[in-house]
Amino acid sequence: MSNREAAVVYGKTTNINRSLAVSKVLERDAVEHLFDSLLPDMVQLALRASELCTKPIPLLKRGMSHSITMSQEQVACLLANAFFCTFPRRNSRKTEYCNYPDINFIRLFEGSSSRKIEKLKTLMCYFKSVTEQKPTGLVTFSRQRLDKPPNWKSSPTLLTRLHITCEGTIEDDGYGMLQVDFANKFVGGGVIGAGLVQEEIRFLINPELIVSRLFTEALDDNECLIITGSQQYSKYTGYSQTYKWAGCHHDTIPRDDWRRRCTEIVAIDALQFRNFLEQFHPDKLNRELNKAYCGFSHSEKESQNLAAVATGNWGCGVFGGDTRLKALIQMLAAAEAGRDVAYFTFGDNQLMTDVHNMHSFLTQRNISVGEVYDLLGQYYSSVCKNCLRRRPDISLYSFIYGQVGSSEFCFLFAETV
Ligand code: APR
Repeated sequence: MSNREAAVVYGKTTNINRSLAVSKVLERDAVEHLFDSLLPDMVQLALRASELCTKPIPLLKRGMSHSITMSQEQVACLLANAFFCTFPRRNSRKTEYCNYPDINFIRLFEGSSSRKIEKLKTLMCYFKSVTEQKPTGLVTFSRQRLDKPPNWKSSPTLLTRLHITCEGTIEDDGYGMLQVDFANKFVGGGVIGAGLVQEEIRFLINPELIVSRLFTEALDDNECLIITGSQQYSKYTGYSQTYKWAGCHHDTIPRDDWRRRCTEIVAIDALQFRNFLEQFHPDKLNRELNKAYCGFSHSEKESQNLAAVATGNWGCGVFGGDTRLKALIQMLAAAEAGRDVAYFTFGDNQLMTDVHNMHSFLTQRNISVGEVYDLLGQYYSSVCKNCLRRRPDISLYSFIYGQVGSSEFCFLFAETV
């Protein structure tokens, strides 16, 4: 981008921002600092693209299992360009990038909702940090494809350990674990638009995640994206409508030999269900099991001593999934991948009790992954398949307790006869 173009872009953006509520909600000196110091620094950072990114950035296309590692400085430069919307061929759905998430921040400047303002505050905190002090680490983006799904029906694998709590969050309490991003197949979802739930919040407080939108094609059913090394720059309070930037965060997570923060995040997109019963169909169950397994399995490392998965109500918010079914699906996938599970119910006490009891019930009886999978199939065929109501008469967990209990009874009965 030439200086002239940059000046044009800067002028355009500054006009956009000036007209925006940004100057209405920031204190006067913050506004002055923004326009007199931060934005010019961001322009200079954006202008270094040809110096910092000397080769074309490879695309993580569908069907590829491939990794890209770049410096945090390169990421910052690309994000500064995204802020100034300098990726020309990414503004139309008709280009060769129609199956990629959008990257230019233009939608962030539309309107002046409090959500957009809080998002901009969060992102400006990041840009202030990286323009004041050059980041020195690396970040790796790995697209992973599941070529050979497990044979769920015949799996003898037993469930792994479960730590479940209604306190805390994946990002605050999942240190050292594989942290799940409840993703959209267009990674990042509505982060530069109106979205503001789990994935968007994670992408805002760890903005280096956003650059994956530049080169990651929409995820297929058997694919996930793993991001290693992203840094947290902001704190927040609230959620969705009540989200608020809550100041800068000083990330003290150690770095690995590649100078990447030891933060590993896996983006897996659940299916969206508008009809409650649909998610119990074997085809849907298999898709969700394989998606979770794709995210939890590790292509290089053997499955012993893998870090636990830090997860929660994946697919059960915007995407309308059933929490108890999804908890079971993730426990099966984690077991098959050889990982323990840390499950954050996000304040749902009853869910914590129900899932804990189910996990104990199954592990005490050494019920295998294959046997649970079979119970899920029985539940669909005998309870859901011909159900005419919106919701089944008997819950999944009651069905499992009944089925396992009665087979125990029959076994005991057979023994006494
Ligand atoms: N830690 C643990 N659990 C959380 C957290 C967190 N930080 N944030 C939210 N949750 C819980 C909440 O209970 C929430 O309802 O996870 C549930 C699901 O969150 P959603 O973001 O709604 O996830 P999902 O249903 O999979 O919808 C994904 O939303 O964010 C977009 O881009 C994303 O389009 C995709 C869709």
